[in-house]
Amino acid sequence: MHLNHELPQNIASLAKESEKALIAKLHSVPLFSGLKEKQLKSILAGAKQRAYPEGEVIVAEGEAGVAFYLILDGAVEVKKKGKVLAKLGSGNFFGEMSLLDRNPRSSDVVASKPTTVLALSSWEFQGLLESNNEIAMSLLKTLTHRLRESGQSLSD
Ligand code: CMP
Repeated sequence: MHLNHELPQNIASLAKESEKALIAKLHSVPLFSGLKEKQLKSILAGAKQRAYPEGEVIVAEGEAGVAFYLILDGAVEVKKKGKVLAKLGSGNFFGEMSLLDRNPRSSDVVASKPTTVLALSSWEFQGLLESNNEIAMSLLKTLTHRLRESGQSLSD
């Protein structure tokens, strides 16, 4: 069992100042850039901010998926059997696959530097996709891009 260094923080309890900064940040994230402030606030109301030290496993291959993660700061590596499949930084997301197909986590996701994420529960994530076509489209575009990249690296 690995030590859990998560520092859960209810976004709802954040001071107004940091809520403002967070909303400005989310506006700059491609996945959320089409949303109005009111919509961003309602996402934040149910979201949790978590901080992980370098080396911490955020998502472990084979586990059941319970949350979707947006990287606010830092960087992660997507790994399978020790091989790095992808590196993701601020503004990128992960953890969507097992929420979409209800299969176990496809790979490990490990913080490669101190990393802060915004975590949404599976039902919040589903609600977000169902009520925002733009987010669903943006997610599909990123997934297609990732699929293309994986195919590319397999044929290299
Ligand atoms: P999930 O399977 O829920 O948990 C592991 C996550 O790693 C997965 O969702 C994706 O978000 C991410 N992931 C898996 N494979 C890749 C890849 N080839 N490129 C980028 N991200 C990936």
